[in-house]
Amino acid sequence: MTADGDSKKRRAAQAALELITAGATIGVGTGSTVNFFIEALAAHPGRVQRAVSSSEASSARLRAAGIAVLDLNELARLDLYIDGADEATAERHLIKGGGGALTREKIIASAARRFVCIIDDGKLVQTLGTFPLPIEVIPMARSLVARQLTARGGRPVWREGFVTDNGNHILDVHGLVITDPKALERELNQITGIVTVGLFAARPADVLLVGTAQAVLTR
Ligand code: A5P
Repeated sequence: MTADGDSKKRRAAQAALELITAGATIGVGTGSTVNFFIEALAAHPGRVQRAVSSSEASSARLRAAGIAVLDLNELARLDLYIDGADEATAERHLIKGGGGALTREKIIASAARRFVCIIDDGKLVQTLGTFPLPIEVIPMARSLVARQLTARGGRPVWREGFVTDNGNHILDVHGLVITDPKALERELNQITGIVTVGLFAARPADVLLVGTAQAVLTR
């Protein structure tokens, strides 16, 4: 990512900080934009004291920032989840999972009352699918699932050497033009061996904070 891209991500991350009520327990996602958000939290001690996290990597960064990381099972309710995305539409449908944390991200997004997605403006698209769609699969089902994705017109590529925090594998599916994200998410969720599809359409973001070169747009 360029210095320009980083400053857009930082701007979106900073805007998310403004949405947090002091002392709130929040959900925190994964990725370079979220890393800027965690940096911003570290610079404001006490703003967030407890969080649930979507990855081991973010958990380590949160703890280093003095924030306690809770198990989602300990929380009866979660008001706010902050996370990035790889692509987003005006309907706030997302592709996520470029960092491989999509399963825990989807769980936290589903638990949260409000999902605020922080992105730079390069991630806004008309139609999802230019970014290869990450799909987490049970390792023994990888080839089986890949054949079914190929039959549906995708080009699945195994993210070799990568193991998710849940011990699973990722297929990155190229060549999809996703005109109906909700329908595709529903359809792919039926394939045995798939753990999580990196399409966030059934549960989209509630708000997009889009960092541009000059400002942050709210969508
Ligand atoms: C992690 O698995 C992803 O869903 C991230 O949210 C997504 O890849 C965005 O990452 P960056 O903020 O690094 O672009």
